[in-house]
Amino acid sequence: MSPVTHGVVFLLAMVSLTICVQNSEAHAKVENRVKSRVYLSPKITQFPGSVSNKTYYDIEFPKGHIAVKSFNAELVDEAGDPVSLQETYVHHWVAVRYYQKKGGKDLVISGNSGLCDHGRSQFFGMGSETRKTSTYVPDPYGIEAGNPLKVPAGYEEKWYFNIHAIDTRGAVDAMGCNECRCNLYNVTVDKDGQPLKPDYVGGLHCCYDGTQCKVKNGVRNVKRNVYFRYTVKWVDWSDSIVPVKVFIFDVTDTWQHTGIHDCLFEYDVKKSTIGTAANSYTSTRRSSVSFPTAGDVVYGFAQQYIGGTGASLYGQDGRVLCSSKPIYGKGKDVGDEAGYIVGMSTCYPKPGTVKIAKGESVTLESYYSSKSMHTGVLGLFYILVAESS
Ligand SMILES: *[C@@H]1O[C@H](CO)[C@@H](O)[C@H](O)[C@H]1NC(C)=O
Ligand SMILES: *[C@@H]1O[C@H](CO)[C@@H](O)[C@H](O)[C@H]1NC(C)=O
Repeated sequence: MSPVTHGVVFLLAMVSLTICVQNSEAHAKVENRVKSRVYLSPKITQFPGSVSNKTYYDIEFPKGHIAVKSFNAELVDEAGDPVSLQETYVHHWVAVRYYQKKGGKDLVISGNSGLCDHGRSQFFGMGSETRKTSTYVPDPYGIEAGNPLKVPAGYEEKWYFNIHAIDTRGAVDAMGCNECRCNLYNVTVDKDGQPLKPDYVGGLHCCYDGTQCKVKNGVRNVKRNVYFRYTVKWVDWSDSIVPVKVFIFDVTDTWQHTGIHDCLFEYDVKKSTIGTAANSYTSTRRSSVSFPTAGDVVYGFAQQYIGGTGASLYGQDGRVLCSSKPIYGKGKDVGDEAGYIVGMSTCYPKPGTVKIAKGESVTLESYYSSKSMHTGVLGLFYILVAESS
């Protein structure tokens, strides 16, 4: 398809979606100086069992020097109707800031404040829990964006999405597809063409863009376009706003053993053979890092995949900085899909009550149920910190 045709198709889709969106959410509204806008990602084309993992550069984002107050999202179809996780699993999405050379290709990632040395550079990002996880940044705080003084000369600030979605319509084993079980995918090599290790049972190396999860015989290959509809709320920047920094802890961070923040991104949970009701079949993984600055925690939540039972962040003296638990769906409705993590609980500590000292050892513990095996799981903790001077 030529870029022009593509543009036209996209525009038509935008128009039809806009109509559907307008009843519930005005397209750009101002209330108590908080501005709100609804955007659509480029279309994501899927087939039963297909995997899409694409990066979309220069996505729409509020312009100007602003403080982001929330970033909510969901997957919708061409009619603007929400898509069930039972049909398309939102494995993960991230929104990353970057600087692009004006009139050139050179691109510099302007990531969050850590803690992984590479990857995990997003300011916003989640997975299946997107619909029911609060992202609101309480007053007087905000996530700063578009500060012209921070953009290198000759560059422009932009944002990209990476969205990883798995279509499980007609799947033989939808949960297996979501956990990227290699035996369900038609792969022998990873996305870079490297042969998979024989003991690699599941994870991202088996469900990269273009792979195909096994569907039942006779399932019609019905194409479907979906969109990521995201709502950003923000206020114009002012001196009364206290900027917060984004930190993401990863339970696979090797820092305590290697002195570098090498994050392995995923790990496996083995099925317990000795589980008892007393230990409630809990698999715990932990990692500790030295926190690089001092400040107040103003918001936090954990990110886990199916099988997760919660995660906690502890200070050096063992005090809990924030704990977050998954909310599992119980039914068939969108936002309440049985067996899926449809939300994560969040922390909003009273301002000034949860402090981290510079150089303090912070430990992340991620808990999963070991009643059955889980592959390619995640243990992340996202916090917003107002630095103390
Ligand atoms: C699996 O992959 C092989 C080799 O790439 C291909 O020939 C075959 O059609 C694929 N099967 C399915 C069901 O996608
Ligand atoms: C998905 O795409 C991102 C961005 O291109 C890439 O960094 C990541 O490795 C990909 N993941 C998989 C599972 O293919």
